[in-house]
Amino acid sequence: MHPVLLTAAALLTSVPAIVGLNNGVARLPVLGYNTWNAFACNIDQDLVLTQAKLMKSLGLQDVGYQHVHLDDCWAEKNRTAQGLLAPDQTRFSRGMKNMTDQLHSMGFQAGIYGDSGWFTCAGYPGSFEHEAQDAQTYQEWGFDYLKFDNCYIPYDDIIREGMIGKYQRMSSAITQLAQTSKQPPIIFSLCQWGWEQVWLWGATVGHSWRTTGDIAANWDALASIINFNSFITQATDFYGRNDLDMLQLGNGGLTFDEAKSHFTAWALMKSPLLIGTNLSAVDDDTLTILKNTEILAINQDAVEGTSISPFRWGINPDWTSNSSFPAQFWSGPSQNGTVFMLLNTLDEPASMFFNLTESPWIRAGRQYSVRDLWAHTDNGTAVRNFTAHAVPPHGVVALLLKDAGNEPSGLQPCAVWDNCASENGTSVQG
Ligand SMILES: *[C@@H]1O[C@H](CO)[C@@H](O)[C@H](O)[C@H]1NC(C)=O
Ligand SMILES: *[C@@H]1O[C@H](CO)[C@@H](O)[C@H](O)[C@H]1NC(C)=O
Ligand SMILES: *[C@@H]1O[C@H](CO)[C@@H](O)[C@H](O)[C@H]1NC(C)=O
Ligand SMILES: *[C@@H]1O[C@H](CO)[C@@H](O)[C@H](O)[C@H]1NC(C)=O
Ligand SMILES: *[C@@H]1O[C@H](CO)[C@@H](O)[C@H](O)[C@H]1NC(C)=O
Ligand SMILES: *[C@@H]1O[C@H](CO)[C@@H](O)[C@H](O)[C@H]1NC(C)=O
Ligand SMILES: *[C@@H]1O[C@H](CO)[C@@H](O)[C@H](O)[C@H]1NC(C)=O
Ligand SMILES: *[C@@H]1O[C@H](CO)[C@@H](O)[C@H](O)[C@H]1NC(C)=O
Ligand SMILES: *[C@@H]1O[C@H](CO)[C@@H](O)[C@H](O)[C@H]1NC(C)=O
Repeated sequence: MHPVLLTAAALLTSVPAIVGLNNGVARLPVLGYNTWNAFACNIDQDLVLTQAKLMKSLGLQDVGYQHVHLDDCWAEKNRTAQGLLAPDQTRFSRGMKNMTDQLHSMGFQAGIYGDSGWFTCAGYPGSFEHEAQDAQTYQEWGFDYLKFDNCYIPYDDIIREGMIGKYQRMSSAITQLAQTSKQPPIIFSLCQWGWEQVWLWGATVGHSWRTTGDIAANWDALASIINFNSFITQATDFYGRNDLDMLQLGNGGLTFDEAKSHFTAWALMKSPLLIGTNLSAVDDDTLTILKNTEILAINQDAVEGTSISPFRWGINPDWTSNSSFPAQFWSGPSQNGTVFMLLNTLDEPASMFFNLTESPWIRAGRQYSVRDLWAHTDNGTAVRNFTAHAVPPHGVVALLLKDAGNEPSGLQPCAVWDNCASENGTSVQG
């Protein structure tokens, strides 16, 4: 660590490192609902409110999903004579304020969708050169959150301002509006598909940034997103995070085990979790997964903001980028101990073994109690290693290991490292 940082860290051990846009909102990943994956452009005010009511009645709001977001296609194709955005007169005939008032009265925050270019991806008006005006419109309509897309990029203008500059325009408009209106800033979510290494700069302008193209409801798409994001986990912390895209649970195309892997990876990598299911037809398996409060607690950890990261790739050599076979062994710190994710990327069941000290958050010479975050059981005490037996194809194991004191005496002093030595310099083999 840099000496200056070391001193600061030593002095301020209770203050977490903050990499993101620390402007008072979205310190933790946003949990909620988005209409796109289930309904695409076929949305209207009643559909949104129906899904919101289901978020409540199905108990999803109670476990932490606090947002309801529109996606593309809510607007009139043309701005008004004053240059303002207008909601579709038929599908949102009561106006946006009417809808956000109802969402707020149900206890939700409301989200809307826009675009940094000339048009949205579905061809509705974009916000380029209308940023301040549109931010104000969104605020007047009662929106708390903006997803900002990347279609119909202005040609030379974007090159001159740069990709960061293109997103800075709306980010600055939101900041200024918050200052003049004395209202909380709109949460700003970049939907930028990972172009121009957004994970290196996204935190300077927004609270989350998409790192990949659109998700699909099949294992190949999930494996590819997990593989890509496995190399950039350090970009995520409080206030700013890699966005792995909205959830595709319950939309067909995934087995139960694949759906569990999807949810676990997204949650433990601290992605926003936006449900993309038709809740009018949601199945019990999907609800069981979405309501795993032990996994959600890790996603919403108020003490540790970082993502899990791979410590061993498994069937492929470490640091292999392979979009069908991502890293299998992951860990990270949490408020209550070290979290492990074991991902069986194979098409057949597998036993998955790891030595505890392969994870940097584990101390040698200690034993650890094991909590299974899917079985919701305490699974005894791990000494030096752990094996998960018969992990299903494309399945996942999520564990929370808590320090449980010194390991039993009598074990070899140096089990793992082959350059372990005694005080007189003699090497001690495990
Ligand atoms: C919308 O704007 C386009 C030009 O930008 C124009 O050709 C079209 O007539 C307008 N449509 C309406 C309904 O005003
Ligand atoms: C929304 O509009 C409907 C129909 O006009 C009206 O009955 C209702 O009171 C409005 N609700 C809010 C919160 O404005
Ligand atoms: C959502 O589910 C309801 C109830 O089954 C169904 O009527 C509707 O067609 C579904 N919508 C979509 C887009 O799948
Ligand atoms: C840590 O444990 C406490 C007490 O059980 C719980 O309330 C909290 O949600 C846990 N935190 C995490 C990040 O799991
Ligand atoms: C990905 O990894 C699998 C398993 O090791 C291997 O069979 C496959 O050839 C790899 N694919 C590529 C494109 O390297
Ligand atoms: C796992 O650790 C135990 C000690 O708890 C040891 O006896 C065993 O050999 C280890 N297994 C492997 C495969 O290293
Ligand atoms: C933990 O124990 C439960 C209950 O016996 C079992 O179903 C589950 O598979 C165990 N988890 C692991 C990772 O072995
Ligand atoms: C686990 O530790 C044992 C020594 O106890 C060592 O032989 C083995 O190579 C280690 N495995 C991994 C994957 O680190
Ligand atoms: C070095 O220390 C080890 C462990 O205490 C001991 O077994 C060994 O005999 C010592 N070797 C020498 C040369 O003193």
